[in-house]
Amino acid sequence: MLNNNSRGSWSGITGFVLAAIGSAIGLGNVWRFPNITSQNGGGAFVSIYICCVLVVGMPIMLAEFLIGRKTQRNPVGAFRALRPGSPWALTGWLGVVSGFVILSYYSVVGGWVLHYVLLSLKNSFASRSPQEIAGMFTALATSSSLQLFWHLIFMLLTIVIVVGGVRKGIERGNDIMMPLLFLLLCILLVYALRTEGADAGLNFLLYPRWEQITRVSILEALGQAFFSLSLGMGAMITYGSYLGKETRLVHSALYVVVGDTLVAILAGFVIFPLVFTFHLEPAAGPGLIFQTLPIAFSQLPAGHLVSIIFFLLITFAALTSAISLLEVVVAYFVDEKGWGRARASWILGGIIFFCGIPSAIWGQVFDSMDQLATNYLLPLGAFLIAIFTGWTLSHEERHTEFHGGEITTFAYIGWSFLIRFVSPVAVALIFLHKLGMF
Ligand code: PHE
Repeated sequence: MLNNNSRGSWSGITGFVLAAIGSAIGLGNVWRFPNITSQNGGGAFVSIYICCVLVVGMPIMLAEFLIGRKTQRNPVGAFRALRPGSPWALTGWLGVVSGFVILSYYSVVGGWVLHYVLLSLKNSFASRSPQEIAGMFTALATSSSLQLFWHLIFMLLTIVIVVGGVRKGIERGNDIMMPLLFLLLCILLVYALRTEGADAGLNFLLYPRWEQITRVSILEALGQAFFSLSLGMGAMITYGSYLGKETRLVHSALYVVVGDTLVAILAGFVIFPLVFTFHLEPAAGPGLIFQTLPIAFSQLPAGHLVSIIFFLLITFAALTSAISLLEVVVAYFVDEKGWGRARASWILGGIIFFCGIPSAIWGQVFDSMDQLATNYLLPLGAFLIAIFTGWTLSHEERHTEFHGGEITTFAYIGWSFLIRFVSPVAVALIFLHKLGMF
């Protein structure tokens, strides 16, 4: 039987919450969310998204924390410990596979961000025409060698942090990067909200355009909620497994959910005012932060500094998420296969790097991986986790994991209802729709 010391543990609730928020806040918030929102009805999408987060995301986050802390294991080991010999271990496996898939392309985007940090440091956007600036992204996206180089650097950074272990690597990395991220975000917010396009930008993000909402938007909102909250693949099971019994799960889940959602919206508050100040295209798709914003930076007063701050912020966000993706895979090999942490991190990180090569070379592979993860793997994982927690675990198994008034009776009943009925039905309906069944 493994004990906590040999696996590592958080130093306390702050370390854990910061790490979990670090996992949640990532490219999903600053790159995916503004994109999807701009293309799916602005405020209308934001409202649907917030509903998904509260009704489906929050209960599943609590379920993942609970499974992790109860078993003190990686996702595969956790399901094995709770229901030995049953097929539930496959849910854990699905998580490990999702970690592979997501990190392989996530790291490619992480690499783009690093490239843009360098471009910003070199003040490359200054006195360039919009066409030239947009061309920089096209040049990157069509250069396999450049993308592979940055993908490699990003993976190396991720591996080095994970090798450090739970407390000295992951926790320390988050302790440094997350406060910096919040600070940089505040600086950018003050800056962006004072630009001329602030009103138009906020209006674009928040004014509900219900006519743009389709059923697909709802699927997108749910997939985005899982992706952004790092749910459905055991990242939160893994982080929860390094928790001591004294930590309050409900409070922690609330902090993570609120923090993540706030940062997604605030990222929009930074991006769209800049876009509108310079009359750029707000629904520019994936190029929004790599093509559109640098055009704004090139024309803004102090744009050089702002661009450095902006891309550093995204680097921290991406790295703190990437380490949680790698940690899921590493924890499995450490716990179940008895590998050393350093060996597991280097070997698995290396394999993930190779798996990411096709995404770096072919845009279609990249898109398919992202679609596979957000539309299928994460919702399926989340569905199974909800069914497991709500229907397979007994009331005693669930209830005894909340210690000493950690959850009120009212909240417990509410959570049980959501996790048993609402979350699985919501995900199932959306799946069936996706498969064209209704
Ligand atoms: N939540 C991260 C983001 O928003 C991505 C992620 C997904 C991380 C799943 C871990 C697990 O960018």
